[in-house]
This record gives sequence, C-alpha cells and structure tokens, in this order.
Amino acid sequence: MPASRRRSRPSPDDERHTNEERRLSNARARSEELREAINHHSYRYHVRDEPEISDYEYDQLVRELEGIETEFPELITPDSPTQRVGGAPAQLFAPVEHRARMLSLDNAFSWEELEAWGKRVERAIGTDVRFACELKIDGLAVVVSYERGVLTRGATRGDGQTGEDITANIRTVRTVPVRLRGSGHPDVLDVRGEVYLPVKGFERVNEELREREERTFANPRNAAAGSLRQKDPKVTASRPLALWCHGVLFARGKRFERHSTALAYLGDAGLPVNPATEVVGSLADVFAYCERWQRDRHTIDYEIDGVVVKVDSIHQQEELGATSHAPRWAIAYKFPPEERTTLLKAIDVHTGRTGIVTPFAVLEPVFVSGVTVGTATLHNQDEVARKDVRPGDTVIVRRAGDVIPEVVGPVLEKRKRGARRWKFPTVCPSCGTALVRREGEAYWVCPNRRGCPSQGIEWLFHFASRGAMDIEHLGYKTGILLLDRDWVEDPADVYFLTDEQLAGLPGFKEKSVANLRAAIEGSKDRPLWRLLVAINIRHVGGTVAQLLARRFPSIEALRGASVEDLSAIDGIGPEIAQSVVDWFQDPENRALLAKLDRAGVRTRDEDVAPPPEGPLTGATIVITGGLESLSRSEAEQAAAEAGAHVTSGVSKKTSFVVVGEGPGSKFDKAVQLGVETIDEGEFLKRLGRSR
Ligand code: IVH
Repeated sequence: MPASRRRSRPSPDDERHTNEERRLSNARARSEELREAINHHSYRYHVRDEPEISDYEYDQLVRELEGIETEFPELITPDSPTQRVGGAPAQLFAPVEHRARMLSLDNAFSWEELEAWGKRVERAIGTDVRFACELKIDGLAVVVSYERGVLTRGATRGDGQTGEDITANIRTVRTVPVRLRGSGHPDVLDVRGEVYLPVKGFERVNEELREREERTFANPRNAAAGSLRQKDPKVTASRPLALWCHGVLFARGKRFERHSTALAYLGDAGLPVNPATEVVGSLADVFAYCERWQRDRHTIDYEIDGVVVKVDSIHQQEELGATSHAPRWAIAYKFPPEERTTLLKAIDVHTGRTGIVTPFAVLEPVFVSGVTVGTATLHNQDEVARKDVRPGDTVIVRRAGDVIPEVVGPVLEKRKRGARRWKFPTVCPSCGTALVRREGEAYWVCPNRRGCPSQGIEWLFHFASRGAMDIEHLGYKTGILLLDRDWVEDPADVYFLTDEQLAGLPGFKEKSVANLRAAIEGSKDRPLWRLLVAINIRHVGGTVAQLLARRFPSIEALRGASVEDLSAIDGIGPEIAQSVVDWFQDPENRALLAKLDRAGVRTRDEDVAPPPEGPLTGATIVITGGLESLSRSEAEQAAAEAGAHVTSGVSKKTSFVVVGEGPGSKFDKAVQLGVETIDEGEFLKRLGRSR
C-alpha cells in the first residue's frame, strides 16, 4: 500500500492524539529549521569569523531550540548544536584533547531568569551561598597550560573536548607569563581564560588593515579570534592581544576550596585575573553587580557582553553538578542589546552597485558595542518615514554586538521645535541623474548604470570582494585610482590592465604590482557561482548563485533558461527568475560577458557534470524516513544517477516524496502541500529497479 494511504486514514487511537501529534510535528519541523540555521551561523562565527547575525540573535535561536528540546526530548538528535559545547574546530592547527571537558555556560536574558537560577541554586544547596561575580569577556575561549610552572601549551576551546593547538601564537600574547611566579606549582595546570583585543587595539588593527587594503574585522571579538588563529605567529605578535584568566580547568594534585581562592592563586602566580571580580553574599548583591556593570560597561577598554555568576564554594559546585554542556553552578547574565543616544546630524544618500539609492544617518560619532558608529543605514524612504527621524533629532542607535548599526528611532522629547521632515532627493548624489522609483518597489534607483561613478566603484569593489571573484589587493583605494584614469569602465576591464599601467599607480612598487597581478590572474578560475555573484544580477547573492550554477553549470546554459526553467529550481522564486532573464537580455551585460570570455575568465563549471539522463530526469525529490533495501545515501545516489535532483526540503516544486519508516515532518509537509508521496516499492519501480 502506498505510504500516503497508510498514513492518511488515522485510527481512532491516532485521532485522540492528533493535537499532540500536530504540536510534535510542528516542533519537529521548527527544530530542524533551527538546527540548520544555528549550524550555519555557528560556522560563520567560529570557523569563518564572519558572523551574519548578532550574538544576541544567535543566542535567541539556540534558546528557542533548547526550549523545544526540553518540551520534546525525543526530538534531540545527537548532532544537535545544543549537544555540543562550542563551535567546530577548524582544521588549520593540530588538534588538542582537553584534559577536562571545557563546558559552556547557560544564559539568563532577564532579571527573572537570573533570579530563577539563583532560586534553583538555593533550593538545591540552601541559602548559605556566596557568589563570585565576574565580567563576561567577549573574546575567544582558550586554555593555557603550565607544567611545573612553565608555559607548555595554548589551545582554543574548539568543541569543548578537542581544541586547536595555538601554542606559538599564545606565546606572543604579552600578558601571558611564560613562567609562573613563586614555587610549588602543580605538575600540570590548565587555566581557562579569554583572549581579547582592547577596543583601542582593535581600532588600530583595522586602521592598518584598511591602509593595506585588506579586509577589516567586524568587531573586537572577531579581530581577537582572527589574530589568534593566524598561521604566522609574527602576525599574532603584531596584534595587541591580552588575556583574562577566569578559572582553573585542571590542576594535578591541587585542590581549591573556593573559586575565589583559585583566582587569587592564579593572580599570585602572575596570571592576569580581572580586578572587577567580586564575591557577594546574596542575590540582591548579584543584581546590583550586574546593574552596575551593565551601566558602566564602557568605562573599561575591552568589550564585555554580560556578567558571569558562579557559586564560589567548590564543594557546593560539586553538589550542583553539570548538565551535558554547562555547569549548574554558574550562569551568564547577558546584557540586552546596547542602545546609545546621539545627534542625527544629517540624512544623506548613497548610490550602491545596483543603482539603488539608500538613505543613511550621519551621526555625531557614538561608541556602541565596541565600535565607534558615525553612520547607520536607514534602508529606504519608507523606513525614514516610518521611524520619523529628522535631521537635528536626538536618536537611539543600537548595535547588538552586531555588524550593522541601526537607528532605532528619535527621542521625541528632545526634538527641537520646527524640526522638518526629511525629503528624499530627486537626483543621484553621485552623477546628478534624475532618480526613478519603479511601481511597487521601495527603492529609488539611479538609472545611469555605466556612467555613475558611485555605481562604478561599488560594483568594482563587489566584483573583487571575498564573496565574489575574491581579488585580494583590489579595494576601494585602488579601484578609485583605476576608475579615475578611465582604465576600467566595468569590472571586466580589470583583466586587461597591463603591468605598466599598474606600475604607474601612486604607491605601486614591483611587489604590489606582482601581488595584484597574481590576484587578478588567480580570480579567472573561480567557480561559476562566484562569477554569477560578481556580475551584479539583482537578487543574486551567494546562495541563489549556487542554486543557479548547480542546475545550469555554464553561462551559456543559464543564458538559455526561461523564467519557467529558473522558477522550477527549488529556492528560486519568479522575481529572481525574472531578474536573471532580464539581466541576460540587456546588450550591455552581454558585452560584459563577451569581454570576460575574451579575458579567459572561466564561465562554466567543468567539474560539474550535467545531470545524467534517466527515468527521473527533471524530477525534484525528497526522501524521508528509513528505507529497507537501501541506505539513505545509496537511495540519494540512485535517485541522482536516475537524473533526479534530490533536495532536503519539501516545497510546491517537489515532484514527489519517498516515505520510508518513521518519516519526519517532511511527510506532513508533503500532505499539507498536496505533493505526491510514494513508498519504497514504488520508488524502486520508478528508479527502474524492482524489489
Ligand atoms: S566561566 C564552566 N567566566 O563565555 C564555566 N566564562 O558563553 C566556564 N567567558 O565558554 C566558563 N568570560 O569562554 C567564564 N568570566 C568568565 C567568562 C567566561 C567570558 C566565556 C567563556 C565561556 C563563554 C560562555
């Protein structure tokens, strides 16, 4: 019997549980989504040092997943990000097994949550508790190891069990002693701490990177992580990194009675222990400490994102124990996203690479979450109207440990009489062309695509950026030099620059010419999806480009695709499809492609074979649940060999879903969307095999 029939007629017993099942199935679907999102963001943060969302938003995702898993423990999977202590160790450095597991911390995002933790502690061990309150340093978790008082190893936390060996780099951190003070130190001592970059140091590092036209860091934490995980310790040494130690992870043959005595010992041994640490005797004092530091977080020259509260007595800590990923005796109280007020000096507009004209706030520089913010995007005309921010207003600015600063809104009580609403300009600020706003769109656009200097430089910068053709040493400064000399009309011209031309640029010596030349030449062989990102098709970023390149592995093939062909790709909607088709119809764009071709830029993915022809050619399928005669990967491979495109999510574009034993939420989704579901026998038949 086909699986759909088997499930579509519920037994009376089933019916009684329908509600619960529905909740479970919703929870399953959401937890799958969350897991995928968290893994993605964790990779961006830990491995790439390029977060896309704020730490706060990330924490909220993890929380939501934890909430679901607490309610439905059956949904916990061994690979769930909640079951892991930290991020995946990247494979640049040798792995290090930690002598004791490096646990993480549970978070409290409000006073109520902090109080609930305190009460739980008191219920478990009584009210005779002392709490050590510490600053939560926003840096990179490390362990530094000493053998008989001599520094022998430095490692990152990695996943809590295995980290990376960064000994050579840790040695360059000036506040890390290579030999402990005093005598009688344990044979082996592993100290936990946080490596960080003071804000001033962060600004200096970014300044230097900017000078050299290299990529800058988004915030001090990323800069610290990036600096510590350098292949060349000389680079690490050039960065003013520092360390705060906040605990003993392992000490052979030595036992401390209190966390505070352990910290005092570390301090006496010459290790840097944060002086703001205080031991208090009540929850009320804990609150006062948190409140004070939430207010005063900017009186210190490094970033903190909260307060860590720890039960001071080691005996009580042992009584409380730990969950699989965090101790019950400690909690991190996270500060809410930081907001500052400042003067909105003006609203200005900027023309981007696609011609979209974006308004932005020009602010009296204000220090928010670790960086000085002087400008913040206001997105579009409607957003300015919705927020009703006016030049001269005092405005609230937020950065949430985030990459992009935003203006939250005006402080109306402080608005000056006669403050005028801001009007969107009618001409492009860069080239003076009259702006146009297409029907139904939120944006004003400068239509002067090839003649507008701002579009020119922004496109060139985007073309060369890490997410596109990745041409190192081609940043704004060099880009402007090239455009000013009219050597580059569109980015394809970069491939026709001569060494003589480059050598004539101010500040270019033999070495810089060679570097830029090598970077330009190297970029000719990028995979197709990067080229698709680089050529500036509206709505085509990295993810969409990869979907397009997978289905149409050459520019030639993509050029021939219709809106229908493109919309048939899972993940590509009609708006994107139309934008791609329009792009290829434009003669200027065709000329650009011809030029790229002449330059020898790769326009096809040779290594990606076209999908094989077979009984399932053209079908997009999903497999859920376990099959009897094939493993999941065998089934996927067999389907792919038969010409099918196997995806992980069910959508209206799914041709059919193969339903095995114990299907997940994908089955429900298929039923909901009216997508055909088939069982294993039918699947084998369609593959051209029979059981
Ligand atoms: S104690 C078992 N204390 O925050 C307890 N951690 O979000 C381990 N962190 O993994 C951590 N400042 O890397 C502790 N004063 C502090 C801290 C601190 C920053 C980091 C640490 C931890 C992370 C959890």
